[in-house]
Amino acid sequence: MSAAAPTSSPHDQLAGKAQAWSALFSEPMSDLVKRYTASVFFDQRLWQADIAGSLAHAEMLAAQGIISGEDHAAIQQGMATITQEIEAGAFDWKLDLEDVHLNIEARLTQLAGDAGKRLHTGRSRNDQVATDVRLWLRGEIDLIDGLLRELQLALVQVAEQNVDTILPGFTHLQVAQPVSFAHHLLAYVEMFVRDEARMRDVRRRVNVLPLGSAALAGTTYPLDRERVARTLAMEGVCQNSLDGVSDRDFAIEFSAAASLVMLHISRLSEELVLWMNQSVGFIRIADRFTTGSSIMPQKKNPDVPELARGKTGRVVGHLMGLITLMKGQPLAYNKDNQEDKEPLFDTVDTLKDTLRIFAEMIGGQMNPATGAKEGGITVNAAAMRAAAMKGYATATDLADYLVKKGLPFRDAHETVAHAVRAAQAQGVDLSELPLATLQGFHPAIAADVFDVLSLEGSLNARKTLGGTAPVQVRAQIARHRQRLAGEE
Ligand code: ARG
Repeated sequence: MSAAAPTSSPHDQLAGKAQAWSALFSEPMSDLVKRYTASVFFDQRLWQADIAGSLAHAEMLAAQGIISGEDHAAIQQGMATITQEIEAGAFDWKLDLEDVHLNIEARLTQLAGDAGKRLHTGRSRNDQVATDVRLWLRGEIDLIDGLLRELQLALVQVAEQNVDTILPGFTHLQVAQPVSFAHHLLAYVEMFVRDEARMRDVRRRVNVLPLGSAALAGTTYPLDRERVARTLAMEGVCQNSLDGVSDRDFAIEFSAAASLVMLHISRLSEELVLWMNQSVGFIRIADRFTTGSSIMPQKKNPDVPELARGKTGRVVGHLMGLITLMKGQPLAYNKDNQEDKEPLFDTVDTLKDTLRIFAEMIGGQMNPATGAKEGGITVNAAAMRAAAMKGYATATDLADYLVKKGLPFRDAHETVAHAVRAAQAQGVDLSELPLATLQGFHPAIAADVFDVLSLEGSLNARKTLGGTAPVQVRAQIARHRQRLAGEE
């Protein structure tokens, strides 16, 4: 660093001076402190939002007669140049200029002279950064919304092919009752539907304009904040300047919604890993989502679901980080808030990558030649069926059968327990016991009992709304298809 001229302004730095603030400071910032306080190497990803916010602010300043039309034009032109430079990778980001805001403003001043220096009229970096983060996050939420729908589509597609594929449903990870594999997948679709709704709800509170709050108390210039909000397609204006610059609820809410998405993916991952275990063998995922072992030649490890499960911890950790970041802060802006960015950015990156990879791992990739998706999960229906035949998954059906013959449910439950015990002793399924043996447990049992003891009979009988009967599952698939084809 060159020796400091403590009287220089941020804009003068480009002329080779090293102190960012003003005549007030009697010595330059040390290099360590500069590095410690700078955010430019991560917050530069806000550049588009920063320029959009500045352009909206400048347009309003000109409309209100606070800056001249010529200054406005010079700012627009300068920002166009800066946009090109950043897009071309030619922009010289400077650590000395601390953050994305000061970097862009300093370059603007270099390009547009005094017009650049007038841009900050009626504005502070406090309301500027709050605006930038909101604008950026709004765009990311829209991308996440699309990715959540892609994942739902992938699950619905596999569900469509597996309405009649039967696997054992578990409670306590023990065989409980047979269910349709489609029904199982659609349970996850329901979770992602709620996630989508949560994201859209969060978006409404993200999409509110802090700009015009200035440093903390509002400003003496006659700003038209509503105009800026309209220009930026924001739904409202923060109504209290102290809150406007210091509120990070929106980031926490977003992280909470993102954590729930990851949590759902993590549960699905746990099941995928279990289903891929050799002693279960319900599914395979394509080789491109697995890795080998450096020592065991036979291995194909489900790294992607395992990592997604692990990355869930990371995203939930960011949520905890953001909550802790805010809990001790007095009003209004504090530099602590600069620490909101890396967790938020990493949450968005992790979530988007995970959603993309899961949609493809489950649903496959579009083959342009056939127009169909290929390479999604492979289902081993025979293994699922064999597993459903173990563990007396249709015992409840036998009890329900006896209830229909007039027994009180508790008595039926006890009768079936005896039958299961006998079948266990013989190492056979209930459906494999001879009719005469079954009748020994209760005389009301007749030949039609074998209809209810079959896996298909068990499924078909669960016709209540939301149940696993194929007729219900098909109705749910149709509902999801229609929903996903529409805008809503
Ligand atoms: N880089 C800062 C942040 O991310 C910008 C706002 C700085 N404001 C201030 N008064 N130091 O929060």
